[in-house]
Amino acid sequence: MKKLKIADGIHMLTMNVEDILFEGIWELANGVTLNSYIVQGEKTAIIDGVIGWDGIPETLYKSLEEIDVNPQDIDYLIVNHMEPDHSGWISNFRKIKDDFKIICTDKAAKMVSSFYGEDKIRIVKEGDTLELGKGKVLSFHPVANVHWPDTMYTYEKDTKTLFSCDMFGAFGRMGDHCFDDELTSEEIEFFELEGLRYYSNVMATFTTSLKKAIEKAKTLEINTIAPGHGPVYRKNPQKIIDDYSRYALYAEGAGKNEVTILWGSMYGMTAKAVDFVESILQREGIKYNKLEMPLESESEMVAAVFRSAGIIIAAPTYEYKLFPPVAAALSELGRKKITGKTAFRLGSYGWSGGAEKELSEIIERNRMNWDFIESVEFEGAPKEEDFKKIEARVLELIEKMK
Ligand SMILES: Cc1cc2nc3c(=O)[nH]c(=O)nc-3n(C[C@H](O)[C@H](O)[C@H](O)COP(=O)(O)O)c2cc1C
Ligand SMILES: [Fe+2]
Ligand SMILES: [Fe+2]
Repeated sequence: MKKLKIADGIHMLTMNVEDILFEGIWELANGVTLNSYIVQGEKTAIIDGVIGWDGIPETLYKSLEEIDVNPQDIDYLIVNHMEPDHSGWISNFRKIKDDFKIICTDKAAKMVSSFYGEDKIRIVKEGDTLELGKGKVLSFHPVANVHWPDTMYTYEKDTKTLFSCDMFGAFGRMGDHCFDDELTSEEIEFFELEGLRYYSNVMATFTTSLKKAIEKAKTLEINTIAPGHGPVYRKNPQKIIDDYSRYALYAEGAGKNEVTILWGSMYGMTAKAVDFVESILQREGIKYNKLEMPLESESEMVAAVFRSAGIIIAAPTYEYKLFPPVAAALSELGRKKITGKTAFRLGSYGWSGGAEKELSEIIERNRMNWDFIESVEFEGAPKEEDFKKIEARVLELIEKMK
């Protein structure tokens, strides 16, 4: 666990977590950080206390002592969001101290009680404040459905620090550099991709609420954004606000000028067409990602489709339906409410087809509203005339992406 000073009386504790499935689903090749913040006036508050994934609070207690905070002196536990990656240590903490108060929204209070049996809770509403002394004043700003319905921002007025919890967060482990102004250009690029992956994997479903949270952040005068995952923005907090505004657009159909080929093939017939598609994209100088299902990780699949303006689905018919791993991937994208993408499908069939029908059903059922160019289906192996059609449709897709 690393300890960093954010401002006088404000510290960050951060730890890298590796080798987990985030939310039990997302395989994180580059890890994730859990960040906690301590605000000290005459009273002491901890915002989003984190512990190791193993549930052992001793690391946290030791780190607190190293920044001269006796864990017994903590008066308030600010729970911006009840999800256990931010609140999982509450019951352990109760074992060493009895007279602390939890501060959270009404929706979080219900969960703090049902998950941990806590009842010493102060419920806060928009604009409520908590004076800690020595000039430190916290104010609370609910941002419902930034992930869960219970979420809020905590804002420290003296230093103009926004503790944004899941909002403005990113996946990716942190090395020695935890502040935006310390990041090298490689690290900046790394956290842009990991931020995008985090948004697409965890937050995309809630884009409507995130847009409101972006607007709420704009009403506060902010010097520093201190999220629950990823780097702290103190030089240019506007950057992460702009990034999130862009991600919200990606969720609704915009994207980088790149194509993702989401494909699968049993005996290589559809694969022949995929090779051909690649040759066209290369010739046209279009950046592309090629993701073979089911070999690709769910996390990367969602992130790649999310950031791309054009999607090519290449999959055959299987038992009168769409090749199941690709169908499952599309359903996952539907759950994530990744809408409005420009897309094209191709694929092989043996005798009847059926993939196309299921594709339409998935798109309809999830109200994905993807803009499809006419599909190319071929019996068995793709022939010369199929390649001609595929080339024309890929060029059409590239044109439409613009
Ligand atoms: C398990 C299995 C189920 C299939 N079900 C259908 C089907 O319902 N209708 C159809 O037209 N073809 C069906 N096919 C034939 C495939 O669509 C065909 O072999 C196609 O060329 C496979 O393309 P691929 O080599 O890219 O996987 C099936 C093939 C397999 C192996
Ligand atoms: Fe969360
Ligand atoms: Fe989180």
